[in-house]
Amino acid sequence: MGTVKELNQLEQSKKVGFIYLSQEDCIKAGGLDMKGTLGAIQKSFELHGSNEVIQPSKPVIRWGGPETEETRGRIMTMPSYLGGDLNVAGMKWIPSMPENPKRIGQPRASAIIILTDPNNGFPLAIMDGTIVSAMRTGAATGIAAKYLANPNSRTVGIIGAGVQSRTQLMATVGVFGNQIEEIKVFDLNREKTDQFAKEMTCELNVSVIRAESAEEAIRESDIVITATMSSYPYVKGDWLKEGAFHSEISFWDTDPEELVHYDKVIVDDFEHVKHHGVDVSYRAVRDGVIREESVSNLGEIITGKKIGRENAMQKILFNPIGMSIHDISEAYRVYLNAKKLGIGNDLSLWENPHWL
Ligand SMILES: NC(=O)c1ccc[n+]([C@@H]2O[C@H](COP(=O)([O-])OP(=O)(O)OC[C@H]3O[C@@H](n4cnc5c(N)ncnc54)[C@H](O)[C@@H]3O)[C@@H](O)[C@H]2O)c1
Repeated sequence: MGTVKELNQLEQSKKVGFIYLSQEDCIKAGGLDMKGTLGAIQKSFELHGSNEVIQPSKPVIRWGGPETEETRGRIMTMPSYLGGDLNVAGMKWIPSMPENPKRIGQPRASAIIILTDPNNGFPLAIMDGTIVSAMRTGAATGIAAKYLANPNSRTVGIIGAGVQSRTQLMATVGVFGNQIEEIKVFDLNREKTDQFAKEMTCELNVSVIRAESAEEAIRESDIVITATMSSYPYVKGDWLKEGAFHSEISFWDTDPEELVHYDKVIVDDFEHVKHHGVDVSYRAVRDGVIREESVSNLGEIITGKKIGRENAMQKILFNPIGMSIHDISEAYRVYLNAKKLGIGNDLSLWENPHWL
């Protein structure tokens, strides 16, 4: 029998609580601090490269074949665990509804993240994952560019003027700083492009100008980014200059045939890319344009297991599917900040469990 004090403590410890972080809370807790995000994503790539993560392939709800993701939409479920000194688990639930901006004036993507303490399985936080998701996608390109782009890169061409393009540029400038002299952006929506160029010029303190075509944005750019909702290919591999680094975060912009123009294809996790069955790196392997053995994961390059860029002339494609470990690493960073700053609402899962 324990003492009365011990019994009281046992009784009190039955409460399971967690914090809820709205999007506004995430921003207050440093969610838009790209330097912090780049650190969190570097860390998750390193853990991935040293096999210290658990990351099951993501189930996708879609209302038709893969091509309907860009029209009808989809919902992805993305769980993972990160070991090392992070030791945290979690899951992102992320619906993409392409008609939202036009139909109801709301973002295409919205996400919720659950963070879990792997020691007892209890929730640490339930939070908006929309900012986390966009920031980590930008940072993945930033970290890839740090390892794979030519270090003296000065010009960027980006296709798409949507949400992801913002964080793609924040991260690229976050890595290369004021070395970036000019950014050209092309989007089918001219008005949106002009607005994007104006806002990003102010935000990044770099000249962002509208290109009249995707070709114009891509030719002569040291770093090329494709981040659109295009449902058809339009990129030509021979538009890219020698030595260019291209990050394709969307799915249909580049035809698999075009990959003959690239010297290397790097992904974040080819098993996940294969499972999704949509990304151009997967379709190029499926169609016999490139060999699966020639595709490396970025974590393997970061941890020195594989070689990245070998000379200044190579054209390199980075084609990330987007990993849950990035979401959880970044969400955990924001969560720790929120705890330190007292941000968020305390909620309880239960005061006393109904069943034991
Ligand atoms: N790989 C990853 O980790 C990852 C993560 C998040 C999002 N994504 C993908 O990134 C893409 C962009 O997402 P978003 O949130 O920025 O979408 P968004 O709807 O905010 O913006 C997409 C933009 O693409 C433009 N566009 C469509 N077709 C075009 C074309 N042929 N040429 C030029 N512009 C075109 C649209 O006008 C729009 O401005 C989506 O496909 C999304 O699934 C990938």
